[in-house]
Amino acid sequence: MEKKTFYITTPIYYPSDKLHIGHSYTTVAADAMARFKRLTGYQVRFLTGTDEHGQKIERRAQAAGKNPQEFVDEIVAWIKKLWQIMDISYDDFIRTTEERHKQVVQKIFQRFYDQGDIYKAKYEGLYCTPCEAFWTERQVVDGNCPDCGRPVELVSEESYFFRMSKYVDRLLAHIEANPDFIQPASRKHEMINNFLKPGLADLCVSRTTFKWGIPVPFDPDHVIYVWLDALSNYITALGYLSEDDSLLQTFWPADVHLIGKEIVRFHTIYWPIFLMALGLELPKKVFGHGWLLLDDGKMSKSKGNVVDPVVLVERYGSDAIRYFLLREIPFGSDGHFSEEALVQRINYDLANDLGNLLHRTLAMLKKYFAGRVPAPAEKDPADEELRRQAEALPRTLKSLMDELQFSGALAEIWKFIACANKYIDDMSPWALAKAGRTERLQTVMYNLVECIRIVSVLLLPFMPKTPPRIWRQLGIAERTELHSWDSILSFGRLPAGVQTTPGEVLFPRLELTGEGAPVRQATKKDKVQAQAAKPAAAEKTTEGRGPLSLEEFARMDLRVSEVVAAEPVAGADRLLKLQVDVGGERRQVVAGIAQYYRPEELPGKRILLVANLKPAKLRGVLSEGMLLAATDDEGNLVLATTDAPIKSGAKVK
Ligand code: MSP
Repeated sequence: MEKKTFYITTPIYYPSDKLHIGHSYTTVAADAMARFKRLTGYQVRFLTGTDEHGQKIERRAQAAGKNPQEFVDEIVAWIKKLWQIMDISYDDFIRTTEERHKQVVQKIFQRFYDQGDIYKAKYEGLYCTPCEAFWTERQVVDGNCPDCGRPVELVSEESYFFRMSKYVDRLLAHIEANPDFIQPASRKHEMINNFLKPGLADLCVSRTTFKWGIPVPFDPDHVIYVWLDALSNYITALGYLSEDDSLLQTFWPADVHLIGKEIVRFHTIYWPIFLMALGLELPKKVFGHGWLLLDDGKMSKSKGNVVDPVVLVERYGSDAIRYFLLREIPFGSDGHFSEEALVQRINYDLANDLGNLLHRTLAMLKKYFAGRVPAPAEKDPADEELRRQAEALPRTLKSLMDELQFSGALAEIWKFIACANKYIDDMSPWALAKAGRTERLQTVMYNLVECIRIVSVLLLPFMPKTPPRIWRQLGIAERTELHSWDSILSFGRLPAGVQTTPGEVLFPRLELTGEGAPVRQATKKDKVQAQAAKPAAAEKTTEGRGPLSLEEFARMDLRVSEVVAAEPVAGADRLLKLQVDVGGERRQVVAGIAQYYRPEELPGKRILLVANLKPAKLRGVLSEGMLLAATDDEGNLVLATTDAPIKSGAKVK
């Protein structure tokens, strides 16, 4: 069968400054997509790079007292390092200062000139240097660039122009005929209504007032406009107009150009027109994603550590950052970045949901089967539901990824993780063990390990460092046949007999201290050690209390209660406000469990309540009772419940 190909690109970055976490967004998304396609059997070409020419870079270099090449070399080296620590698996990194690019851009310019698409005239107009964009009087807003809001400059120079107008109708027809070409659809309408329909002015494609660019081959006082130079990277990197254009033959047209929304205009108007003029096919899709914003507005490097991707990776690890970027914001919309939101995602999704599934499963497997994966034996209809969900997942993910819905894809994986966690609660392996139902216990434990394996494979594109860590604990690190996409299409490919070993905590729970790096939340082990360090104090408190008499214990009214609703308490990170049913009576209880449970997972849970505790107000919210809970080895608070379902209101004795 012929191998399917997939060509994906990011924008090429300006090496005018170090990048912030918002810049990493496009690249992380493109990387997840490239990895997903590789995993599902495509021959992938993933291109990124740097856009090194133009007035902006020239001015920055001057300000830094360096020549432009020296200046960009340093930043490019830093960018490459950044992509390495973020696990960006690009196949090619193109720099617009490379010969392979410069020579071809000159050939492209020459060709446009020879075929009459480019002519020379005097340009007088407005220019935004930070955006390297020309604007008309009508487009600027109070003398400022409509894109970035900074002042535009009046420029007047002899220039070459590209006859954009010649291609407008063809482009409009293409956009209409190919609804997927510009995504999301809102950006398509903006392009048509704001730029194409009002008529497109010819584009100035050369500059003479500075030198840092690719010279026009037949008129070297002019340098080629930086966007014509930059956009061409998508084909120069494939060897277009070079001796060997086999990559171009294999991969062009691009399957998707991923870009931020502010550069959609360049990619959906200028770029397709240049391609039409070259007689090349247009890319299949241009996707303009939203911006990552800070709570106080636009992101910029000047906001310090909180936006520095290197600092963030050091603090949280690249997988957690990648997960956050892809999960938090639906691709296409703007979204907010904050360390608080990141830590919440780490604690809820990674430490709790994923981490606990692995930890609980392996701990039970160790206890009941010395860590060895048992062969499934006695079946139950509940297994079928789990299997059905597992087998539906790869297909669902494929279609979501084809729509670039990274957040939706991760949400589906997490829905499945929730199912597996619920399967543990519903099947209660500890009860099966106690009842001596070994055959049923075998099946339940097998299914859980298989679920974890399936999740690990699905996570590969998004968080490439985590699956190998899971495989080591599952004892399948060397079994590459169990890491493939095909191996998760049917449930049950994991062979019985594999020896698992519970290991490091995947994602420790974190606590933000308000300054600098977050700290790991104290685990039970830490607490035990701290206690052991002060034996005198510990003894004294035990002595002081003395043994509890039966009468004293009888004063305590402990009840089974059902959670009816739960919601966060505004302004209190750790608290949840619960409505519980105690045998028909409604109570409100405020509990410090917000870092361990999400409000939506609580309704329906039967918990143990100290029902006759004196009512108290926590952060101004009335609490009429206290939940019982205990801390597990990882430091997670786990609610106490009953061994079998008991109706609410029942007294615990
Ligand atoms: N050099 C041009 C692209 C030329 S492509 C032929 C450029 N470079 S850039 O360095 O300014 O931006 C690169 C990418 O980073 C763009 O897609 C841009 O949208 C993205 N982002 C920059 N800041 C961002 C956020 N705060 N949030 C999300 N993406 C952001 O433009």
